[in-house]
Amino acid sequence: LKAGCNLKKGQPASIDRESAMVVWLDHHKEPLVYEEIKQKAEDSPSPAFKEVKDQMGILNAAVVLPSFLEDKLSNFLILGDKLSGKIYTSEDLNVFSILATETAIAIENALLYGNIEEQVRERTRELIEVQKQLIQAEKLATMGTLAGGVAHEINNPLAAILTNVQMLLATCDPQDPNIDRESLELIEEATKRCRTIVQKLMTYAKKPLESGKISEVNLLDVIKNAISFLSYQLKQDDIKIITEAKEGDYLVIGNPNELEQMVTNIILNARDAIRLIKKSGEIHIRLLKTSEWLKIEIEDEGPGIRKDIASKIFDPFFTTKDVGKGLGLGLSICQSIIEKHNGRISFKSDLDKGSTFTIQLPRVKVAGAIKKENPYGQENFID
Ligand SMILES: Nc1ncnc2c1ncn2[C@@H]1O[C@H](COP(=O)(O)OP(=O)(O)O)[C@@H](O)[C@H]1O
Ligand SMILES: [Mg+2]
Repeated sequence: LKAGCNLKKGQPASIDRESAMVVWLDHHKEPLVYEEIKQKAEDSPSPAFKEVKDQMGILNAAVVLPSFLEDKLSNFLILGDKLSGKIYTSEDLNVFSILATETAIAIENALLYGNIEEQVRERTRELIEVQKQLIQAEKLATMGTLAGGVAHEINNPLAAILTNVQMLLATCDPQDPNIDRESLELIEEATKRCRTIVQKLMTYAKKPLESGKISEVNLLDVIKNAISFLSYQLKQDDIKIITEAKEGDYLVIGNPNELEQMVTNIILNARDAIRLIKKSGEIHIRLLKTSEWLKIEIEDEGPGIRKDIASKIFDPFFTTKDVGKGLGLGLSICQSIIEKHNGRISFKSDLDKGSTFTIQLPRVKVAGAIKKENPYGQENFID
């Protein structure tokens, strides 16, 4: 066995491609006969014959029959001396050759089957993982719907509180010492705040299909809405958002809810990135126009995106975040939303400075727009 095979416990035996005998078989592609090799080893000064002869000697091999699959040595059959002491005839060798080839095919099939089994196992593991994450995503979606429902339920009682408190404020005698006006005003303020939150929640939770009417959307409003929805969370995380955009029309055709969701996802990624390396930071959002496109740039001060994962970040379920923190769906959802809007998303990243995600959406042109000098190369910027 030393002469030609690698044997390791628990692993399939494999041919030792370095062994002299294997090299010879691979090269000559014909049976090795011990007596012939012995003769050659005596006649020739080349050490190769002797090595092959010695290996055959260790194996007690009278003949070694190779078989080939796709021109590559796939296995070999070792025949010892015949019990009768006679030599092997060419008919004998023929029969054994056929046997060796059959064995090669059988071994190949077994290996292939083994591989397929391993692949099936691997795939099943992946599927189970994906299924788990889908269930989680589904749960999140359900939570969104539930939150929308709850918000809707709360909206009516809130309206009742607000109307009543406002009525009280309007009708009560300001001089009456028994009435605590300040408290009433506090109630009014607090109720208004609740109403705003509830309304935002309702807008956010609305499924794209329900509110899926495509309309003209101002991207500046989209960004403002996303920021205002996140404002509490971002304040908690000590993250400041700086928006740079001239007031004006940034019109695209699309679904405002989906576009808000997209911007929200990218802002949250920026927040996560910053929080990885520091306690507070800034996110810069810029809105730009070219003659054909609107561009949103979202820049963070995070650690940047390593080259080895850059090609994967848009893959569904790709995440570098801890379990429960990231599903890895954000960017893939963003990408599908942007593609639906005939746009593009790209990013630039610098490991020392952070990352900038750029979203480009085809713009709806406003009649009478004036072409201006173009700071961005080929495209014309319009104010
Ligand atoms: N602004 C960013 N800075 C650094 N890495 C980012 C940024 N945005 C996305 N990534 C990387 O891309 C991965 C995928 O993002 P995403 O699809 O939103 O999923 P998730 O946020 O759930 O991980 C993140 O886990 C992170 O590794
Ligand atoms: Mg994300």
